[in-house]
Amino acid sequence: MDAPAVLLPLLLLLVAALAAAAIHPADLAVLQDLQRSLTNADVLAWPADTDPCAWPHISCDRAGRVNNMDLKNAGLAGRLPPTFAHLDALEDLSLQNNSLSGPLPSFRGMAALRHAFLNNNSFDTIPADFFDGLTGLLVISLDNNPINKSSGGWTISTDLASAQQLQNLSLMGCNLVGAIPDFLGTMNSLQELKLSYNNLSGPIPSTFKGSALETLWLNNQHGDPKLSGTLDVIATMPNLQQAWLHGNEFSGPIPDSIAACKPLQELWLNGNQLVGLVPPALGTLPELQSLQLDDNNLLGPVPVVKAATYTFSHNGFCADKPGVACSPEVMALIEFLAEVDYPKKLVGSWSGNNSCGGWLGVTCVAGKVTVLNLPDYGLNGTISHSLGNLSTLSDIRLDGNHLTGHVPDSLTNLKLLQKLDLSMNDLSGPLPTFSPSVKVNVTGNLNFDRTAPGSPPKDAPGSPSSGTPGSSIHAASPENGRKTSPVLLATTIPVAVSVVALVSVCAVLIFRKKRGSILPNATSVVVHPRDNSDPDNLVKIVMASNDGNGSTSQGNTPSGSSSQTSNVHMIEAGNFVIAVQVLRGATKNFSQENVLGRGGFGVVYKGELHDGTMIAVKRMEAAVISNKALDEFQAEIAILTKVRHRNLVSILGYSIEGSERLLVYEHMSNGALSKHLFQWKKLEMEPLSWKKRLNIALDVARGMEYLHSLAHQCYIHRDLKSANILLGDDFRAKVSDFGLVKHAPDGNFSVATRLAGTFGYLAPEYAVTGKITTKADVFSFGVVLMELITGMTAIDESRLDEETRYLASWFCQIRKDEEKLRAAIDPTLDLTDETFESISVVAELAGHCTCREPTQRPDMGHAVNVLVPMVEKWKPVNDETEDYMGIDLHQPLLQMVKGWQDSEASMTDGSILSLEDSKGSIPARPAGFAESFTSADGR
Ligand SMILES: *[C@@H]1O[C@H](CO)[C@@H](O)[C@H](O)[C@H]1NC(C)=O
Ligand SMILES: *[C@@H]1O[C@H](CO)[C@@H](O)[C@H](O)[C@H]1NC(C)=O
Ligand SMILES: *[C@@H]1O[C@H](CO)[C@@H](O)[C@H](O)[C@H]1NC(C)=O
Ligand SMILES: *[C@@H]1O[C@H](CO)[C@@H](O)[C@H](O)[C@H]1NC(C)=O
Ligand SMILES: *[C@@H]1O[C@H](CO)[C@@H](O)[C@H](O)[C@H]1NC(C)=O
Ligand SMILES: *[C@@H]1O[C@H](CO)[C@@H](O)[C@H](O)[C@H]1NC(C)=O
Repeated sequence: MDAPAVLLPLLLLLVAALAAAAIHPADLAVLQDLQRSLTNADVLAWPADTDPCAWPHISCDRAGRVNNMDLKNAGLAGRLPPTFAHLDALEDLSLQNNSLSGPLPSFRGMAALRHAFLNNNSFDTIPADFFDGLTGLLVISLDNNPINKSSGGWTISTDLASAQQLQNLSLMGCNLVGAIPDFLGTMNSLQELKLSYNNLSGPIPSTFKGSALETLWLNNQHGDPKLSGTLDVIATMPNLQQAWLHGNEFSGPIPDSIAACKPLQELWLNGNQLVGLVPPALGTLPELQSLQLDDNNLLGPVPVVKAATYTFSHNGFCADKPGVACSPEVMALIEFLAEVDYPKKLVGSWSGNNSCGGWLGVTCVAGKVTVLNLPDYGLNGTISHSLGNLSTLSDIRLDGNHLTGHVPDSLTNLKLLQKLDLSMNDLSGPLPTFSPSVKVNVTGNLNFDRTAPGSPPKDAPGSPSSGTPGSSIHAASPENGRKTSPVLLATTIPVAVSVVALVSVCAVLIFRKKRGSILPNATSVVVHPRDNSDPDNLVKIVMASNDGNGSTSQGNTPSGSSSQTSNVHMIEAGNFVIAVQVLRGATKNFSQENVLGRGGFGVVYKGELHDGTMIAVKRMEAAVISNKALDEFQAEIAILTKVRHRNLVSILGYSIEGSERLLVYEHMSNGALSKHLFQWKKLEMEPLSWKKRLNIALDVARGMEYLHSLAHQCYIHRDLKSANILLGDDFRAKVSDFGLVKHAPDGNFSVATRLAGTFGYLAPEYAVTGKITTKADVFSFGVVLMELITGMTAIDESRLDEETRYLASWFCQIRKDEEKLRAAIDPTLDLTDETFESISVVAELAGHCTCREPTQRPDMGHAVNVLVPMVEKWKPVNDETEDYMGIDLHQPLLQMVKGWQDSEASMTDGSILSLEDSKGSIPARPAGFAESFTSADGR
């Protein structure tokens, strides 16, 4: 065999081998496109005129097809060419951490692609068919690209579902919007799903039930809303190791079943809206390394867990250490809450370890829960047997909810229970056997089986029905449904005194007075709050007497229980509980600049709620929370929440939390009347016109008339004075400061009381004997009228002339002498004949009101009758411009609007109309309550 004959096949082989390594022309074209579309291809150092399969970072298969391109961290800038998908033999692509920008080309049809790292670039759009036909895909990452940002984000196409072996899908921080696609939950090979830092919203789809995911990162969605719904689906993932769910809006409780996710190592749930008890079973997770629960509404005890990293701040936990038990009352109530699905409103309120700390719907006496009052709360679920552990409960009101299931037997253990109102629910029977003293109302439970143990069989419709022997049961016949009017059955306890409505207070007060006390000597006051969005929902304030008969221990027998509660007075009142936190925010944490004034028991701050409502917040100083101060706090809440009239300053809310006692009132932008009468010069204000003064007199008379006789009880203010009369933005007046108000039988009775009130306004009989009637207020009103006429203060020790020192006695002497009266009139008033005529009438009324004999003073109704026609008829002769907030109504419209805007702009003290404009411009010394709380009046 000659040499050439041997060499030829070898040569051919060699040529063939070389040909196999040479790049496929189609792939060469793409690489050339890539070089052209990059702006800095030189950094690749790809030598020209050599086979690209030998270039750095590129590998080819034996057919000359590019199968690997590793260009990570290469500092590349520019774009990927549109032809990129022609590299359809590419298996591994690493382009992460470059500065590639512009549109991502479609990867459609790159069936060989297994790993694709495109993260950490600046790609700004993705074509809709990008994922089409990527059937070989195992791992893909597009993290940290501003994809489709300008077009409002993008969603993952269902094309991706054809990547049936996909294990890792990482699409963080790339502007995904909308819901998590359902199909992702059915991709069985998926182990890692990372969708953090997008704008995803909605729940985790139910297709994820039982998913084999090991890593699930959904944290920190940017949008509003964020991801939400419960964690129930999460708890079904048996392989889950990392659950990063923080920074979303997940809600509901942490499911108990999460304990079945044995491999869990990192459970990050912070910054959501999770509620309720944390399953103690978290402590059994064997692999748990990090548990983060902060910033949710979790309640109850902090469980003990094995995790090395464990955070749980900013929740409603009852303790600040793991493993510390809550009080039994707190546990019982939270378990109750759990069975009614943790309603939002209650979850926010029922936090910490003191169920008597102002929890919504929970009333206490002497630190013990006595009333659960949650009617018409929309409660869904069942009644927890845990209520049976609240042994001091006397009254349970759960009427008007959607409660289902049975009435738990445990409730029959409640020895002090008197009332159980379960009417208007969907409960079913049978009813456990209650002691005869318990009044049970199950009216309007359509499925209630009234053939309860101890009950006679069903009655014919309309016939007197009956319940458990001895119990008084009001039950609708099932046939008649909810509309049936309930039939009242035997009531075996003597008239239940548990609710002593203050309507009957007059008699009670006389009785109590003989024992030396007017208001019950309160040991404990707990407000029983209700839904403040509904004005008809009433609250109870309990004041327990400690005068010896009221000890709780007497209530062990049914008969004892009624005597026990005879000293508990429940005052029906509107519910206006505001969280201290909110008030801190509204008053810039009770900052000095917001102080409106100071009084004997605390400081009054100006505040602004989130919705722009201006408020005045009276905060009792912790140091002075004496019994007396508490009495007045209680009195003020009780009265303000009951007494509502347009000429009485209304209470917007109150707070009792820890040692905080706060009252919240409407803010009166023009402050106290006294300021406008006596300090207008110093404060650079316009003196009040006579018309305004007349209006103010009538407003005050109306407010006082209401207090005395038109409210459903009679009240005596005891401290009416110009400093307690506040003016709104329209200079209409409201009477304020109800701390000293007493309930009074009526004008014919007098009630002995501590001397209160302000010297100079005090009726003589009250000053001398301490006996007070409504006529004492009439006297004070007379003095206010005199102040309106003269512009002089009720008392001024600095007045040289001793006679004029006490306005009331002096004015009475001079008022009948026309010359002297003229001379006494406030010089700022423009004294025309007509004005003088009007003033004379008011002067006469003032005289009558301040008669020495209380019986000779008129009642406030008379004052109103005198003032009404004057206000209506009185017209200023001297063309005092009709001035409503400084606007002349005779001006042309355009000027008026301008004037209105000006007046708005100038009202920087936060009057209601100028709220929007006045935000952030609170003056150093705003108008407001100052006077009414700075008066050193001996209180
Ligand atoms: C990203 O790429 C640059 C070079 O462009 C490199 O210095 C840097 O270390 C890379 N970052 C990471 C996290 O790999
Ligand atoms: C990508 O960017 C993120 C955030 O900027 C950074 O933490 C990460 O290390 C980067 N990864 C790479 C591969 O550069
Ligand atoms: C991204 O935006 C581009 C251009 O606005 C659009 O054509 C494309 O369909 C969008 N991609 C997705 C997945 O919505
Ligand atoms: C009870 O269920 C109804 C209907 O699902 C719902 O509208 C209501 O908000 C629920 N009540 C509470 C307190 O969550
Ligand atoms: C029982 O409840 C119904 C419905 O709430 C109510 O109308 C009725 O007055 C109640 N009966 C008694 C005796 O309180
Ligand atoms: C309140 O109770 C205390 C002590 O029991 C008693 O000294 C005081 O006189 C009572 N106050 C009133 C107003 O009854």
